[in-house]
Amino acid sequence: MAFDIDMIKKVYSELPSRVDKAREVVGKPLTLSEKILYAHLWDGSPSRAFTRGKDYVDFAPDRIACQDATAQMALLQFMQAGKSKVAVPTTVHCDHLIQARDGAVADLKRANDTSNEVFDFLESVSNKYGIGFWKPGAGIIHQVVLENYAFPGGMMIGTDSHTVNAGGLGMVAVGVGGADAVDVMAGMPWELKFPKLIGVKLTGELNGWTASKDVILKVAGILTVKGGTGAIVEYFGPGAKNLSCTGKGTICNMGAEIGATTSTFGYDEAMERFLRATDRSEIADEANKIKDYLTGDPEVYENPEKYFDQVIEINLSTLRPHLNGPFTPDLATPVGELGKKARENDWPINVMWGLIGSCTNSSYEDLTRAASIAQQAIDKKLKPKSDFGINPGSEQIRYTAERDGLLRVFEDLGATIFTNACGPCIGQWDRSDVLGDEKNTIVHSFNRNFSKRADGNPNTHAFVGSPEMVAAIAISGRLDFDPMNDSLLNEDGEEVKLDEPRGIELPPRGFEVEDAGYLEPDADGSGVNVVVNPNSERLQLLTPFEPIKDEELQGVKLLIKAFGKCTTDHISMAGPWLRYRGHLDNIANNTLIGAVNAFNKKTNFVKNQLDGEYGGVPDTQRAYKKAGIKTIVVGDHNYGEGSSREHAAMQPRHLGVAAVLVKSFARIHETNLKKQGMLGLTFANENDYDLIQEDDTFNFVDISEFAPGKPLTIEVVHADGSKDTILANHTYNDAQIEWYREGSALNLIKKQNNA
Ligand code: F3S
Repeated sequence: MAFDIDMIKKVYSELPSRVDKAREVVGKPLTLSEKILYAHLWDGSPSRAFTRGKDYVDFAPDRIACQDATAQMALLQFMQAGKSKVAVPTTVHCDHLIQARDGAVADLKRANDTSNEVFDFLESVSNKYGIGFWKPGAGIIHQVVLENYAFPGGMMIGTDSHTVNAGGLGMVAVGVGGADAVDVMAGMPWELKFPKLIGVKLTGELNGWTASKDVILKVAGILTVKGGTGAIVEYFGPGAKNLSCTGKGTICNMGAEIGATTSTFGYDEAMERFLRATDRSEIADEANKIKDYLTGDPEVYENPEKYFDQVIEINLSTLRPHLNGPFTPDLATPVGELGKKARENDWPINVMWGLIGSCTNSSYEDLTRAASIAQQAIDKKLKPKSDFGINPGSEQIRYTAERDGLLRVFEDLGATIFTNACGPCIGQWDRSDVLGDEKNTIVHSFNRNFSKRADGNPNTHAFVGSPEMVAAIAISGRLDFDPMNDSLLNEDGEEVKLDEPRGIELPPRGFEVEDAGYLEPDADGSGVNVVVNPNSERLQLLTPFEPIKDEELQGVKLLIKAFGKCTTDHISMAGPWLRYRGHLDNIANNTLIGAVNAFNKKTNFVKNQLDGEYGGVPDTQRAYKKAGIKTIVVGDHNYGEGSSREHAAMQPRHLGVAAVLVKSFARIHETNLKKQGMLGLTFANENDYDLIQEDDTFNFVDISEFAPGKPLTIEVVHADGSKDTILANHTYNDAQIEWYREGSALNLIKKQNNA
């Protein structure tokens, strides 16, 4: 699978001296997170200390991973950069576009039939540009990365929020938007605000029914869905060493649910065992040579309050199993207390499905622990009351689990084994047992349980737990079942109890796989044709954006003045539009349809100044485009918050919006606008927002003098001929002004490449 040992050796050869230098400039002992961050500075060896939560820093990640939904636009953009190969090792994983319904074989065939053009495109573009390609059915991105690419002390970015899973193998791995990934693929730095640090000290040892999952369910309950924002969560202490590597992965994976930048663990024997079991002894040998550098300094862990911004302590020995939900992953309830809570809140007690798998919990250990419960149901003549569905995390796991008889146990209980893919975790679940919006309860071992997430039904109450707890609850069919104290009635009418789960950390006979589903790219991809059907609805090759000329910024029309919250979801809706992620013109038909028009408080209903008629935002904008008129979008505070998807900047740009003028920006969106060669501006005087009227025309009077630190002057001409002159601030530096002048950051890269 070609993990890049030379790259890893290079990282390890530089890491000790960089960490020593960092310790010197910071002037104190270092956490693991700081070691990895300082060892991956774009400028090489550290020369100064950064302020956590404040300084924006350029980094040089070691790897990139992309999933099939986000990779489409990222790679279409990368094709614009004029490079022959990606600058850092990159992989693409086909896992999000496979719907779960009938079982692995039939579902995979259906996915290959319905999404073949997307898969063919991703395969060919990967082959051309030196990107490792994991076919549909090969597995879920984060499990495949953990088994093949993650390495202690490394830095990775991925176009999926659960990229953080690789922290289980001691990485700093961060989920990013496609635009960031494209930058790094094209050889540019990756910018991140230097994170704050939350330390979680683990003591004791897991026992009985408590699993690694319960650690993060507990942490989520403490920190809530926002508590980790802008921070790296670093786990340490004797308890951390007692957790398996994949268990650590589970904990890091769900760090996304508390908003954390990422989570990580120091290198230890569990990681070494996992590396050796997954055929990467070479990495383990290299890591062992510098192992003190691959964990935090001892003083940091002895006095964590001194070195972390926040410290939490959890005793694994007394931790109880939890089920979190419904509708939010931070609503943590210890198993045993859930029945009362469910009755008080009128949550359905009967459980219809138990789903095991996802990138969070599909390791060999997870499957063995869940299977040990399933086997008891068979042995004790318990007929499961809920349906079972299993999504193995990778073909390697599936093959090994089948060989070792684990899947057979679930099948004997009537489980459906779905494809090694995301399936129900991302709403790719064609479920036929509930009709319409019927209220129902499911339990799963995934990470997210927001409304509609699994099956599109807003009344599906989803609870998150460990795989073994999901198995027990599904067998009982009741949310109020507590396997530690309650018994069940078997087919002979006898009361039986489930014994504690038993797991096996790693397969005693080793991992095995016949065809892992990996395609190595051509060494020289110059002759490879990228496959895109010109008539495709889902894919469209990009054409470079034309620079916005100064004269086009006179007579600019207002497209919409957005009122209140305007997130990237309002700018580029998800749901059914995900299908068009690789087709800019088609997905542009959702542009700003969720934004509220400040003049009538309606969504997708704006005035076309050319004919005075009201219509949808995309149609109105297309009319301006046809007339050769540029437009401006005006917005409120924190415009563009939410997901980092680059579509929210590319779509308005594609349709001819020249500028976005708001009270304040979510920073990533602001950067995305800059990268696409647009003007992202803020009102120098916030109250000027109130001056903007529905029929306004804007003249950017001094755009020819666009320069860092100098506000732009805009003349706002109202319908009655009266004028207001306002100032707009911006944060463009010289390089970003060059992006603007060239039409986009990618245009500039291409130009530099050709120079
Ligand atoms: Fe896939 Fe769900 Fe993980 S969508 S990547 S299994 S969070």
